[in-house]
Amino acid sequence: MALSKSILLNRRTLLAGGAAMFANTAAPRTFAAEPKTFDLVAAPAHMPIVGGAHSETEVWAYDGMVPGPEIRVRQGERLRISVQNKLPEATTVHCHGIRLPNAMDGVPDLTQRAVAPGETFTYEFECPDAGTFWYHPHTNSSAQVGRGLYGALIVEEREPPVVDREVVWVMDDWRLRDDGSIHPDFRNFHDIAHAGRLGNTVTVNGRVTDSFSVHSGERIRLRLINAANARIFGLSFQEHSPLIIAVDGQPVEPHPADAGRIVLAPGMRMDLILDLTGKPGQRYTVRDDYYSRASYPFLELAYAKRALRDNVLDGGTRLAPNPLAEPDLDKAERLQVVLGGGMMGRMMTAIVNGREMDMRSMFRSGVAWAMNGIAATDHLHDPLLTFARDRSYVIELINDTAWPHPMHLHGHAFRVISRNGRAEPLRLWQDTVLIPGREWAEIALVADNPGDWMFHCHILEHQIAGMMGVVRVA
Ligand code: C2O
Ligand code: CU
Repeated sequence: MALSKSILLNRRTLLAGGAAMFANTAAPRTFAAEPKTFDLVAAPAHMPIVGGAHSETEVWAYDGMVPGPEIRVRQGERLRISVQNKLPEATTVHCHGIRLPNAMDGVPDLTQRAVAPGETFTYEFECPDAGTFWYHPHTNSSAQVGRGLYGALIVEEREPPVVDREVVWVMDDWRLRDDGSIHPDFRNFHDIAHAGRLGNTVTVNGRVTDSFSVHSGERIRLRLINAANARIFGLSFQEHSPLIIAVDGQPVEPHPADAGRIVLAPGMRMDLILDLTGKPGQRYTVRDDYYSRASYPFLELAYAKRALRDNVLDGGTRLAPNPLAEPDLDKAERLQVVLGGGMMGRMMTAIVNGREMDMRSMFRSGVAWAMNGIAATDHLHDPLLTFARDRSYVIELINDTAWPHPMHLHGHAFRVISRNGRAEPLRLWQDTVLIPGREWAEIALVADNPGDWMFHCHILEHQIAGMMGVVRVA
Protein backbone atom coordinates (compact mmCIF):
# COMPACT_ATOMS: atom_id res chain seq x y z
CA MET A 1 0.00 0.00 0.00
CA ALA A 2 1.41 3.38 -0.95
CA LEU A 3 1.89 5.70 1.94
CA SER A 4 0.28 9.02 1.15
CA LYS A 5 1.76 10.92 4.02
CA SER A 6 1.75 14.07 1.90
CA ILE A 7 -1.97 14.87 1.79
CA LEU A 8 -2.15 15.05 5.50
CA LEU A 9 1.18 16.61 6.11
CA ASN A 10 2.02 20.07 7.14
CA ARG A 11 5.23 21.34 8.59
CA ARG A 12 5.40 20.52 12.26
CA THR A 13 8.45 20.67 14.41
CA LEU A 14 8.95 18.51 17.41
CA LEU A 15 9.65 21.33 19.81
CA ALA A 16 12.47 21.22 22.28
CA GLY A 17 11.08 21.20 25.78
CA GLY A 18 8.00 19.17 24.84
CA ALA A 19 6.85 16.19 26.84
CA ALA A 20 9.19 13.92 24.92
CA MET A 21 12.43 15.47 26.08
CA PHE A 22 14.19 15.02 29.32
CA ALA A 23 17.33 16.44 30.70
CA ASN A 24 19.68 13.70 31.77
CA THR A 25 19.51 14.50 35.44
CA ALA A 26 21.02 11.98 37.81
CA ALA A 27 18.32 10.11 39.70
CA PRO A 28 18.70 9.95 43.46
CA ARG A 29 19.53 6.42 44.59
CA THR A 30 17.11 6.19 47.49
CA PHE A 31 14.11 3.89 47.34
CA ALA A 32 10.72 5.23 48.22
CA ALA A 33 8.69 2.84 50.35
CA GLU A 34 5.51 3.97 48.64
CA PRO A 35 5.03 2.84 45.03
CA LYS A 36 5.31 5.48 42.36
CA THR A 37 1.70 6.10 41.42
CA PHE A 38 0.07 7.09 38.15
CA ASP A 39 -3.68 7.62 37.80
CA LEU A 40 -4.84 7.25 34.23
CA VAL A 41 -8.24 7.99 32.75
CA ALA A 42 -8.98 6.24 29.46
CA ALA A 43 -11.54 8.29 27.54
CA PRO A 44 -12.38 9.73 24.12
CA ALA A 45 -10.55 12.98 23.39
CA HIS A 46 -9.61 15.33 20.55
CA MET A 47 -6.02 15.70 19.40
CA PRO A 48 -4.31 17.72 16.64
CA ILE A 49 -2.76 14.60 15.08
CA VAL A 50 -2.30 16.16 11.64
CA GLY A 51 -2.00 19.76 12.84
CA GLY A 52 -2.14 22.98 10.85
CA ALA A 53 -5.53 23.83 9.44
CA HIS A 54 -6.74 20.24 9.72
CA SER A 55 -9.47 19.55 12.18
CA GLU A 56 -8.61 17.70 15.34
CA THR A 57 -8.97 13.93 15.33
CA GLU A 58 -11.29 12.16 17.72
CA VAL A 59 -9.09 9.62 19.48
CA TRP A 60 -9.22 7.39 22.53
CA ALA A 61 -6.54 8.50 24.95
CA TYR A 62 -5.06 8.19 28.42
CA ASP A 63 -5.50 11.51 30.23
CA GLY A 64 -6.50 13.19 26.98
CA MET A 65 -3.03 12.73 25.44
CA VAL A 66 -1.57 10.60 22.66
CA PRO A 67 0.75 9.08 23.67
CA GLY A 68 -0.58 8.83 27.21
CA PRO A 69 1.47 10.24 30.08
CA GLU A 70 4.99 8.91 30.19
CA ILE A 71 5.39 6.50 33.07
CA ARG A 72 8.92 6.65 34.44
CA VAL A 73 10.32 4.72 37.38
CA ARG A 74 13.72 3.55 38.55
CA GLN A 75 14.86 -0.05 38.23
CA GLY A 76 13.54 -2.12 41.12
CA GLU A 77 11.00 0.51 42.06
CA ARG A 78 7.36 -0.40 42.71
CA LEU A 79 4.89 1.02 40.26
CA ARG A 80 1.16 1.54 40.75
CA ILE A 81 -1.05 2.37 37.79
CA SER A 82 -4.73 2.88 38.36
CA VAL A 83 -6.91 3.11 35.31
CA GLN A 84 -10.34 4.59 35.26
CA ASN A 85 -12.36 3.48 32.25
CA LYS A 86 -14.40 6.24 30.66
CA LEU A 87 -14.48 4.52 27.26
CA PRO A 88 -17.70 3.17 25.80
CA GLU A 89 -16.35 -0.40 26.15
CA ALA A 90 -14.33 -2.58 28.51
CA THR A 91 -10.55 -2.24 28.60
CA THR A 92 -7.37 -3.39 30.40
CA VAL A 93 -3.80 -2.13 30.56
CA HIS A 94 -0.92 -4.40 29.62
CA CYS A 95 2.61 -3.25 30.47
CA HIS A 96 4.43 -4.66 27.47
CA GLY A 97 7.80 -6.24 28.28
CA ILE A 98 7.75 -5.84 32.06
CA ARG A 99 8.38 -9.15 33.82
CA LEU A 100 5.58 -8.72 36.33
CA PRO A 101 3.36 -11.12 38.31
CA ASN A 102 0.72 -12.79 36.15
CA ALA A 103 -2.27 -11.18 37.89
CA MET A 104 -0.94 -7.73 36.88
CA ASP A 105 -0.51 -8.57 33.18
CA GLY A 106 -3.73 -6.95 31.99
CA VAL A 107 -5.07 -9.74 29.78
CA PRO A 108 -8.88 -9.87 29.88
CA ASP A 109 -10.48 -13.17 30.97
CA LEU A 110 -7.05 -14.78 31.38
CA THR A 111 -5.48 -12.68 34.17
CA GLN A 112 -8.36 -10.40 35.18
CA ARG A 113 -11.93 -9.47 34.40
CA ALA A 114 -11.90 -6.64 31.87
CA VAL A 115 -12.49 -3.19 33.38
CA ALA A 116 -16.07 -2.23 32.48
CA PRO A 117 -17.00 1.35 31.55
CA GLY A 118 -17.16 3.42 34.74
CA GLU A 119 -14.87 1.04 36.69
CA THR A 120 -11.33 1.53 37.94
CA PHE A 121 -8.60 -1.11 38.20
CA THR A 122 -5.25 -0.78 39.94
CA TYR A 123 -2.10 -2.53 38.79
CA GLU A 124 0.85 -2.74 41.14
CA PHE A 125 4.21 -4.46 40.65
CA GLU A 126 7.96 -4.04 40.73
CA CYS A 127 10.01 -3.33 37.63
CA PRO A 128 12.97 -5.73 37.71
CA ASP A 129 14.51 -4.67 34.40
CA ALA A 130 15.68 -1.24 33.34
CA GLY A 131 14.74 -0.32 29.80
CA THR A 132 12.22 1.04 27.34
CA PHE A 133 8.76 -0.51 27.67
CA TRP A 134 5.23 0.64 26.89
CA TYR A 135 1.66 0.22 27.99
CA HIS A 136 -1.49 -0.36 25.96
CA PRO A 137 -4.89 -2.07 26.25
CA HIS A 138 -5.24 -5.81 25.63
CA THR A 139 -8.99 -5.67 24.98
CA ASN A 140 -10.20 -5.16 21.42
CA SER A 141 -6.58 -4.12 20.83
CA SER A 142 -6.80 -3.42 17.12
CA ALA A 143 -9.38 -0.68 17.70
CA GLN A 144 -8.24 0.53 21.13
CA VAL A 145 -4.52 0.83 20.32
CA GLY A 146 -5.46 1.97 16.81
CA ARG A 147 -7.48 4.87 18.25
CA GLY A 148 -4.55 6.10 20.32
CA LEU A 149 -4.41 4.23 23.63
CA TYR A 150 -0.71 3.72 24.36
CA GLY A 151 2.14 5.32 26.24
CA ALA A 152 5.83 4.95 27.05
CA LEU A 153 6.93 3.16 30.21
CA ILE A 154 10.55 3.92 31.00
CA VAL A 155 12.52 2.12 33.69
CA GLU A 156 15.72 4.04 34.38
CA GLU A 157 19.07 2.37 34.93
CA ARG A 158 20.97 3.02 38.12
CA GLU A 159 23.91 4.22 35.96
CA PRO A 160 22.62 5.60 32.67
CA PRO A 161 25.14 6.53 29.97
CA VAL A 162 26.01 10.23 29.88
CA VAL A 163 24.17 12.01 27.08
CA ASP A 164 23.12 15.57 26.36
CA ARG A 165 19.45 14.70 25.94
CA GLU A 166 17.14 11.77 26.20
CA VAL A 167 14.28 11.64 23.72
CA VAL A 168 11.42 9.17 23.30
CA TRP A 169 9.80 8.66 19.91
CA VAL A 170 6.57 6.72 20.17
CA MET A 171 5.90 5.87 16.53
CA ASP A 172 2.45 5.20 15.16
CA ASP A 173 0.64 4.83 11.86
CA TRP A 174 -2.97 5.92 11.50
CA ARG A 175 -5.58 5.28 8.86
CA LEU A 176 -7.25 8.67 8.57
CA ARG A 177 -10.00 9.84 6.26
CA ASP A 178 -9.74 13.12 4.36
CA ASP A 179 -11.46 15.00 7.17
CA GLY A 180 -8.79 13.80 9.63
CA SER A 181 -11.05 11.29 11.39
CA ILE A 182 -9.94 7.73 12.11
CA HIS A 183 -11.23 5.22 9.59
CA PRO A 184 -13.47 2.92 11.64
CA ASP A 185 -12.95 -0.29 9.59
CA PHE A 186 -11.02 -2.04 12.34
CA ARG A 187 -12.00 -5.57 11.38
CA ASN A 188 -11.55 -5.15 7.66
CA PHE A 189 -10.89 -8.66 6.37
CA HIS A 190 -8.35 -7.56 3.81
CA ASP A 191 -6.16 -6.21 6.62
CA ILE A 192 -6.73 -9.32 8.70
CA ALA A 193 -5.63 -11.75 5.97
CA HIS A 194 -2.73 -9.65 4.63
CA ALA A 195 -0.27 -7.31 6.38
CA GLY A 196 -2.63 -5.88 9.00
CA ARG A 197 -4.02 -2.37 9.24
CA LEU A 198 -1.41 -0.28 7.45
CA GLY A 199 -2.36 3.39 7.64
CA ASN A 200 -1.70 6.56 5.68
CA THR A 201 -0.39 8.93 8.36
CA VAL A 202 2.74 8.33 10.38
CA THR A 203 3.19 10.15 13.67
CA VAL A 204 5.90 10.61 16.26
CA ASN A 205 4.56 11.21 19.76
CA GLY A 206 1.03 11.60 18.41
CA ARG A 207 1.79 14.31 15.83
CA VAL A 208 2.67 14.34 12.18
CA THR A 209 6.31 15.37 12.54
CA ASP A 210 8.46 16.62 9.70
CA SER A 211 11.57 17.66 11.50
CA PHE A 212 13.43 17.17 14.72
CA SER A 213 15.70 19.96 16.01
CA VAL A 214 19.24 19.03 16.96
CA HIS A 215 22.61 20.65 17.59
CA SER A 216 25.91 19.72 16.07
CA GLY A 217 28.03 17.93 18.68
CA GLU A 218 25.05 16.66 20.66
CA ARG A 219 24.73 13.09 21.95
CA ILE A 220 21.13 11.92 22.21
CA ARG A 221 19.74 8.75 23.70
CA LEU A 222 16.80 7.99 21.47
CA ARG A 223 14.22 5.53 22.73
CA LEU A 224 12.08 4.21 19.87
CA ILE A 225 8.75 2.50 20.50
CA ASN A 226 6.64 1.08 17.68
CA ALA A 227 3.02 1.46 18.80
CA ALA A 228 1.52 0.95 15.33
CA ASN A 229 -1.08 -1.78 14.75
CA ALA A 230 0.78 -3.22 11.79
CA ARG A 231 3.42 -0.97 10.25
CA ILE A 232 7.01 -2.18 10.46
CA PHE A 233 9.49 0.70 10.35
CA GLY A 234 12.95 0.48 8.75
CA LEU A 235 14.77 3.74 9.46
CA SER A 236 18.01 4.88 7.84
CA PHE A 237 19.66 8.01 9.20
CA GLN A 238 21.35 9.87 6.33
CA GLU A 239 25.06 10.39 7.14
CA HIS A 240 24.56 9.36 10.76
CA SER A 241 25.26 6.00 12.32
CA PRO A 242 23.27 5.46 15.48
CA LEU A 243 24.46 2.75 17.86
CA ILE A 244 21.92 0.24 19.14
CA ILE A 245 22.40 -0.11 22.90
CA ALA A 246 19.21 -1.96 23.84
CA VAL A 247 16.51 -3.95 22.06
CA ASP A 248 13.09 -4.45 23.68
CA GLY A 249 14.50 -2.78 26.78
CA GLN A 250 17.32 -5.32 27.14
CA PRO A 251 20.93 -4.07 26.87
CA VAL A 252 23.09 -5.31 24.05
CA GLU A 253 26.73 -4.73 23.15
CA PRO A 254 26.53 -1.33 21.39
CA HIS A 255 26.56 -1.91 17.64
CA PRO A 256 25.41 -0.21 14.43
CA ALA A 257 22.31 -1.60 12.71
CA ASP A 258 22.61 -4.15 9.89
CA ALA A 259 23.14 -2.18 6.68
CA GLY A 260 22.50 0.95 8.75
CA ARG A 261 18.76 0.29 8.93
CA ILE A 262 16.88 0.23 12.24
CA VAL A 263 14.05 -2.30 11.82
CA LEU A 264 11.29 -2.04 14.36
CA ALA A 265 8.14 -4.16 14.17
CA PRO A 266 4.96 -3.42 16.15
CA GLY A 267 5.51 -3.88 19.87
CA MET A 268 9.31 -3.59 19.62
CA ARG A 269 11.56 -0.95 21.14
CA MET A 270 15.12 0.13 20.51
CA ASP A 271 17.46 2.43 22.42
CA LEU A 272 19.96 4.27 20.25
CA ILE A 273 22.89 6.53 20.92
CA LEU A 274 22.66 9.13 18.20
CA ASP A 275 25.74 11.32 17.84
CA LEU A 276 24.88 14.49 15.94
CA THR A 277 27.90 14.72 13.69
CA GLY A 278 26.26 16.79 10.94
CA LYS A 279 26.95 20.39 10.05
CA PRO A 280 25.23 23.34 11.73
CA GLY A 281 22.31 24.68 9.70
CA GLN A 282 22.01 21.48 7.61
CA ARG A 283 19.14 19.04 7.30
CA TYR A 284 19.52 15.26 7.03
CA THR A 285 16.74 12.85 6.16
CA VAL A 286 15.68 9.87 8.21
CA ARG A 287 13.98 7.58 5.69
CA ASP A 288 11.64 4.71 6.29
CA ASP A 289 12.11 2.19 3.50
CA TYR A 290 10.95 -1.01 5.16
CA TYR A 291 8.34 -1.55 2.43
CA SER A 292 10.59 -1.05 -0.58
CA ARG A 293 7.87 0.23 -2.90
CA ALA A 294 6.57 2.70 -0.31
CA SER A 295 9.67 4.43 0.99
CA TYR A 296 9.09 7.95 2.38
CA PRO A 297 10.94 10.56 4.46
CA PHE A 298 10.15 9.75 8.08
CA LEU A 299 11.49 13.11 9.27
CA GLU A 300 14.50 15.40 8.95
CA LEU A 301 17.17 16.09 11.50
CA ALA A 302 17.26 19.90 11.46
CA TYR A 303 20.55 21.27 12.78
CA ALA A 304 20.55 24.60 14.57
CA LYS A 305 22.91 27.27 13.21
CA ARG A 306 25.07 27.11 16.29
CA ALA A 307 26.91 23.94 17.34
CA LEU A 308 26.71 22.68 20.90
CA ARG A 309 30.38 21.68 20.85
CA ASP A 310 32.99 20.69 18.29
CA ASN A 311 33.18 17.00 19.07
CA VAL A 312 30.53 14.72 20.52
CA LEU A 313 30.92 13.24 23.98
CA ASP A 314 32.93 10.06 23.93
CA GLY A 315 31.92 8.38 27.17
CA GLY A 316 30.81 4.75 27.43
CA THR A 317 27.50 3.67 25.95
CA ARG A 318 27.28 0.12 27.31
CA LEU A 319 24.37 -0.58 29.69
CA ALA A 320 24.55 -2.97 32.63
CA PRO A 321 22.66 -6.23 31.96
CA ASN A 322 19.29 -6.89 33.54
CA PRO A 323 18.82 -9.81 35.98
CA LEU A 324 17.65 -12.40 33.44
CA ALA A 325 18.11 -16.14 33.93
CA GLU A 326 20.41 -17.63 31.28
CA PRO A 327 18.80 -20.62 29.49
CA ASP A 328 20.79 -23.85 29.65
CA LEU A 329 20.88 -24.83 25.99
CA ASP A 330 22.28 -28.33 26.62
CA LYS A 331 19.48 -29.29 28.96
CA ALA A 332 16.73 -27.29 27.27
CA GLU A 333 13.60 -29.01 26.05
CA ARG A 334 12.95 -28.29 22.39
CA LEU A 335 9.53 -27.35 21.05
CA GLN A 336 8.16 -26.15 17.77
CA VAL A 337 5.53 -23.54 16.95
CA VAL A 338 4.37 -23.27 13.35
CA LEU A 339 2.62 -20.10 12.23
CA GLY A 340 0.14 -20.75 9.44
CA GLY A 341 -2.62 -19.13 7.41
CA GLY A 342 -3.23 -15.81 5.68
CA MET A 343 -3.50 -15.04 1.99
CA MET A 344 -1.07 -16.98 -0.20
CA GLY A 345 -0.50 -19.43 2.65
CA ARG A 346 -0.34 -23.19 2.57
CA MET A 347 -2.65 -23.90 5.48
CA MET A 348 -5.77 -25.84 4.48
CA THR A 349 -7.61 -26.26 7.77
CA ALA A 350 -7.31 -25.27 11.42
CA ILE A 351 -9.04 -25.96 14.70
CA VAL A 352 -11.29 -23.02 15.59
CA ASN A 353 -13.10 -23.22 18.94
CA GLY A 354 -12.48 -26.95 19.10
CA ARG A 355 -13.79 -27.65 15.61
CA GLU A 356 -11.85 -28.30 12.41
CA MET A 357 -12.63 -25.72 9.74
CA ASP A 358 -11.41 -25.28 6.17
CA MET A 359 -9.79 -21.99 5.18
CA ARG A 360 -12.80 -20.80 3.24
CA SER A 361 -15.13 -21.12 6.22
CA MET A 362 -12.47 -19.62 8.48
CA PHE A 363 -12.13 -16.59 6.21
CA ARG A 364 -15.91 -16.23 6.18
CA SER A 365 -15.94 -16.01 9.96
CA GLY A 366 -13.04 -13.51 10.09
CA VAL A 367 -10.38 -16.00 11.20
CA ALA A 368 -7.23 -16.24 9.09
CA TRP A 369 -4.27 -17.48 11.15
CA ALA A 370 -3.25 -20.35 13.41
CA MET A 371 -0.42 -21.45 15.69
CA ASN A 372 0.30 -25.19 15.50
CA GLY A 373 -2.97 -25.58 13.59
CA ILE A 374 -5.11 -23.92 16.26
CA ALA A 375 -6.77 -20.56 15.72
CA ALA A 376 -7.55 -18.93 19.07
CA THR A 377 -10.11 -16.15 18.91
CA ASP A 378 -10.29 -15.43 22.67
CA HIS A 379 -7.69 -14.88 25.35
CA LEU A 380 -9.06 -17.76 27.41
CA HIS A 381 -8.32 -21.17 25.88
CA ASP A 382 -6.35 -24.36 26.44
CA PRO A 383 -2.60 -23.72 26.54
CA LEU A 384 -0.70 -23.98 23.30
CA LEU A 385 2.44 -24.88 25.26
CA THR A 386 2.99 -25.87 28.90
CA PHE A 387 6.34 -25.14 30.52
CA ALA A 388 7.71 -26.57 33.75
CA ARG A 389 8.72 -23.75 36.04
CA ASP A 390 12.43 -22.82 35.94
CA ARG A 391 13.19 -25.16 33.05
CA SER A 392 14.98 -24.00 29.91
CA TYR A 393 13.23 -24.18 26.56
CA VAL A 394 14.27 -23.70 22.97
CA ILE A 395 11.32 -22.93 20.71
CA GLU A 396 11.68 -23.22 17.00
CA LEU A 397 9.32 -20.63 15.51
CA ILE A 398 8.51 -21.47 11.93
CA ASN A 399 6.74 -18.86 9.85
CA ASP A 400 4.94 -20.96 7.26
CA THR A 401 3.08 -17.94 5.88
CA ALA A 402 3.84 -15.33 3.24
CA TRP A 403 3.78 -12.47 5.80
CA PRO A 404 6.08 -11.14 8.50
CA HIS A 405 4.95 -11.72 12.10
CA PRO A 406 6.37 -10.00 15.19
CA MET A 407 5.74 -12.65 17.86
CA HIS A 408 5.46 -11.38 21.43
CA LEU A 409 5.66 -13.41 24.63
CA HIS A 410 4.33 -11.94 27.86
CA GLY A 411 6.04 -12.12 31.26
CA HIS A 412 9.48 -13.18 29.95
CA ALA A 413 12.36 -12.14 27.76
CA PHE A 414 13.96 -14.71 25.45
CA ARG A 415 17.21 -14.91 23.55
CA VAL A 416 17.01 -15.12 19.76
CA ILE A 417 19.69 -17.77 19.19
CA SER A 418 19.36 -18.55 15.50
CA ARG A 419 17.66 -17.49 12.29
CA ASN A 420 17.12 -19.77 9.31
CA GLY A 421 19.52 -22.31 10.75
CA ARG A 422 22.33 -19.83 11.36
CA ALA A 423 23.51 -18.93 14.84
CA GLU A 424 22.79 -15.33 15.79
CA PRO A 425 26.05 -13.66 16.85
CA LEU A 426 24.50 -11.23 19.35
CA ARG A 427 21.80 -13.58 20.73
CA LEU A 428 19.63 -10.58 21.59
CA TRP A 429 17.24 -10.68 24.49
CA GLN A 430 13.84 -9.68 23.14
CA ASP A 431 10.17 -9.99 24.01
CA THR A 432 8.99 -9.51 20.42
CA VAL A 433 10.77 -11.24 17.54
CA LEU A 434 10.06 -10.37 13.91
CA ILE A 435 10.03 -13.39 11.64
CA PRO A 436 9.78 -12.54 7.94
CA GLY A 437 7.54 -14.64 5.68
CA ARG A 438 8.78 -18.25 5.14
CA GLU A 439 11.63 -17.80 7.61
CA TRP A 440 12.26 -19.33 11.01
CA ALA A 441 14.05 -18.54 14.23
CA GLU A 442 14.95 -20.24 17.47
CA ILE A 443 14.37 -18.55 20.78
CA ALA A 444 15.55 -19.73 24.19
CA LEU A 445 14.33 -18.88 27.65
CA VAL A 446 13.98 -20.01 31.23
CA ALA A 447 10.29 -20.35 32.12
CA ASP A 448 10.72 -18.63 35.47
CA ASN A 449 7.56 -16.59 35.75
CA PRO A 450 4.56 -18.73 36.77
CA GLY A 451 1.14 -18.21 35.21
CA ASP A 452 -0.72 -18.16 31.93
CA TRP A 453 0.94 -15.83 29.42
CA MET A 454 -0.09 -14.70 25.97
CA PHE A 455 2.15 -15.51 23.03
CA HIS A 456 0.85 -13.68 19.97
CA CYS A 457 1.55 -11.75 16.83
CA HIS A 458 1.76 -8.02 17.57
CA ILE A 459 0.20 -7.17 14.23
CA LEU A 460 -3.06 -6.60 16.05
CA GLU A 461 -5.26 -7.68 13.14
CA HIS A 462 -3.44 -11.02 13.05
CA GLN A 463 -3.82 -11.43 16.79
CA ILE A 464 -7.60 -11.00 16.70
CA ALA A 465 -7.85 -13.41 13.78
CA GLY A 466 -6.25 -16.47 15.35
CA MET A 467 -2.54 -15.80 15.80
CA MET A 468 -2.38 -16.05 19.56
CA GLY A 469 -1.91 -18.74 22.13
CA VAL A 470 -1.51 -19.18 25.85
CA VAL A 471 1.78 -20.43 27.24
CA ARG A 472 1.37 -21.92 30.71
CA VAL A 473 4.26 -21.88 33.17
CA ALA A 474 3.24 -24.29 35.91
CU1 C2O B 1 2.06 -5.44 23.56
CU2 C2O B 1 0.11 -8.94 24.27
O1 C2O B 1 1.04 -7.14 23.90
CU1 CU C 1 1.19 -11.59 12.32
